[in-house]
Amino acid sequence: MSAGFEFRRALVSRNKGTHNRSYESFSEIFSKYVQRLGKYEKASVLSHVEAIAPATSANLGAGFDVFGVALSELFDTVAVDVVKSDNKVKVFVEGRNPELVPTDPEKNTAGIVAKALMKISGKNCGLVINIKKGVRPGSGLGSSAASAAASALAVNEALQLGLTRRELVKFAALGEVAAAGVPHADNVSAAILGFFTVIISHDPFEVLQLPMPGNAAFVIATPESVLETSKARSVLPKQVPLSDAVHNISRAAAFVAGALLNNLNLMGMGMSDLIAEPYRTKLIPGLADVKRGAIEAGAAGVAISGSGPSVLALVDLSKKVETEVLKAMKEGFGKHGIECETMVTKPGLGAKIVRRE
Ligand code: HSE
Repeated sequence: MSAGFEFRRALVSRNKGTHNRSYESFSEIFSKYVQRLGKYEKASVLSHVEAIAPATSANLGAGFDVFGVALSELFDTVAVDVVKSDNKVKVFVEGRNPELVPTDPEKNTAGIVAKALMKISGKNCGLVINIKKGVRPGSGLGSSAASAAASALAVNEALQLGLTRRELVKFAALGEVAAAGVPHADNVSAAILGFFTVIISHDPFEVLQLPMPGNAAFVIATPESVLETSKARSVLPKQVPLSDAVHNISRAAAFVAGALLNNLNLMGMGMSDLIAEPYRTKLIPGLADVKRGAIEAGAAGVAISGSGPSVLALVDLSKKVETEVLKAMKEGFGKHGIECETMVTKPGLGAKIVRRE
């Protein structure tokens, strides 16, 4: 067993009753999936591919729409069957809160990605997409991106398109239109490439993938409420004061420098945002208390995770403050009568193929 795995087990057992991160074995998912295929004759299934993609946290404070980090806990699984049929894409959803996820392939992030990839393949077949949600929709942990990323990987493999991960990011970003109204690529970049990603240009699309210090971990508190990205974006101003833009540029630079210099204090300083967070605060009751509690308990920095309502605190594992930070964040929401799920997680790998037949 790897040290990383043991570390995660220790954290999971320490945080009983937190995020449900157990997901069914792939063979169990597969057999359910075959049952669901029902009306498709087994002989009509040309190939079967499954991929998983992780939860992600976007922005990390100052890097609005630019920074993303893949987390080593919570995954969506997307199973894709290529079937002999017209060029139809069908989507089924199960797992965490499937009622919050549309199954219309024009509105589902995995479906949108699958349709776009099928179009460029020029192949005459159908796709049946079965999504198992491990990342709760509307939690600020890149739920729609996890489905889009896993779909991109699985469909690329199933249709043998041979696209690179960076090319797949662009397709996965199309899926985010459904969730946010604009194809922001911060979550999908991290979900596909892994670890810390920085989008440096949209046209042409360029994204950097950077490591993070080995002692960096995140404490995440997710209140029970659902906050849709489109709603959290609707409260943002079209223009921001120049001084706020300068603040974010300097803090974002500090975060990247800290990541490269293994300086968690610098990274923590970089988690201060004046472009989105002040406008979103009203959508996340208890945010100020959660942030204050995390910093007082020893976090290096704290910010809304993506568009919220999850809150993410950066901790230095060598300081062993994660349990106190977690408690303080839970209490911060608790003061406002809000229950939350919590976890301690590390930067992790991007999406991967877990089965092909
Ligand atoms: N950058 C996006 C936003 C992330 O803050 O709206 C959404 O998860």
